[in-house]
Amino acid sequence: MSPTANWNYPTAIKFGVGRIRELAEVCRGQVILRPLLVTDSGLARAPITIAALESLRAAGLGAELFADLKPNPIEANLLAGLEAYRAGQHDGVVAFGGGSGLDMGKLIAFMSGQSRPVWDFEDIGDWWTRADADGIAPVIAVPTTAGTGSEVGRAGVLTDERTHTKRIIFHPKMMPKVVICDPALTVGMPAKITAGTGMDAFAHCLEAYCAPGFHPMADGIAVEGMRLVAQSLVRAVRTPDDLDARANMMAAAAMGATAFQKGLGGMHALSHPVGAVYDTHHGMTNATFMPYVLQFNRAAIDERITRLAAYLGLASPSFESFLGLVLQMREDIGVPHTLGELGVDDRQAALIAEMAIADPSAAGNPVPLDLKGAAQIFAAASQGRL
Ligand SMILES: NC(=O)c1ccc[n+]([C@@H]2O[C@H](COP(=O)([O-])OP(=O)(O)OC[C@H]3O[C@@H](n4cnc5c(N)ncnc54)[C@H](O)[C@@H]3O)[C@@H](O)[C@H]2O)c1
Ligand SMILES: [Fe+2]
Repeated sequence: MSPTANWNYPTAIKFGVGRIRELAEVCRGQVILRPLLVTDSGLARAPITIAALESLRAAGLGAELFADLKPNPIEANLLAGLEAYRAGQHDGVVAFGGGSGLDMGKLIAFMSGQSRPVWDFEDIGDWWTRADADGIAPVIAVPTTAGTGSEVGRAGVLTDERTHTKRIIFHPKMMPKVVICDPALTVGMPAKITAGTGMDAFAHCLEAYCAPGFHPMADGIAVEGMRLVAQSLVRAVRTPDDLDARANMMAAAAMGATAFQKGLGGMHALSHPVGAVYDTHHGMTNATFMPYVLQFNRAAIDERITRLAAYLGLASPSFESFLGLVLQMREDIGVPHTLGELGVDDRQAALIAEMAIADPSAAGNPVPLDLKGAAQIFAAASQGRL
């Protein structure tokens, strides 16, 4: 039997197979009587989405659907969502989907009561204090992928089309009030999305664990998150309806996002510009870069990674055995080994390196990431040179 539990950390989480049935009751509990269900266009007609919407309506709630967004959402999607929110006189959001639907739902709820443009709330210094905290509508988050952990995050990622950059919009009150983690919702993910999102969760744990700074709480969460992924991701890809594997992945996703308050690193710093310029899948892009970034950081993380390898139960715990685990897992689930296989050529290499060092994640890399280093990682990932 797959586990069922209620957690209150880092927010209220109702975890377990079938718990999507509690959605209407959870909305009522937060006094959301006219929820706007926000998801991406790919999920708009999926049976899980229709069932969730119908359960809200059957309970007498004035629920509407907004699904006018694609993966890697842009500002125009947010503006359309805000219009739908206001036109429907909604009083809260059900953010439903992978990172794209979850982030957009959180952003609509956040922006519904603000008078400044969204870019004024980018995660820079104390810009979040510019926001009117009373204008933030409540969010119930329902993840349908197991990766970004956005369901327990205080930020939303929005692509700025003017500069082809992914910007992080942050406010502490963007954290969803209640999360329903129902592993059964992730069963229908295409194998590629299971693989990519699962590696995103792994990258969050790994980069947080390797980021410099004293944060033993984040480190503890990160290592257990990685153990769950190492134990379950290949199973989830190969046997999609294995609910135990799905439950482990869903927990690991929430753990990754909780841990990365400590920081991220080179994988995300490079993956953000590649995703913004080439529209690649975020998690798959992290996974492609992963071994090259590990190699680049080796001198700074050798000892930590050896400790991690021991915790993961590897036969001879070392940096090499951990790298071996990463490479094997990537191969088993079909992660591209080179950027070329991901559909990314090297014509924009210089631009990507420049954008990578300007990305906020770069600051968490255990070896300071300069232009030369970022270009070196990009070249290694292009050539498949470890
Ligand atoms: N807020 C954060 O902390 C954070 C962290 C990392 C990434 N992100 C953002 O999240 C996005 C990536 O999210 P993602 O990897 O979860 O993918 P996604 O939300 O972009 O979805 C990818 C695809 O999978 C489909 N899908 C999702 N769930 C499904 C299901 N159960 N069954 C069938 N199809 C399903 C979607 O329709 C979509 O086509 C990016 O925009 C990224 O920038 C946010
Ligand atoms: Fe990520």
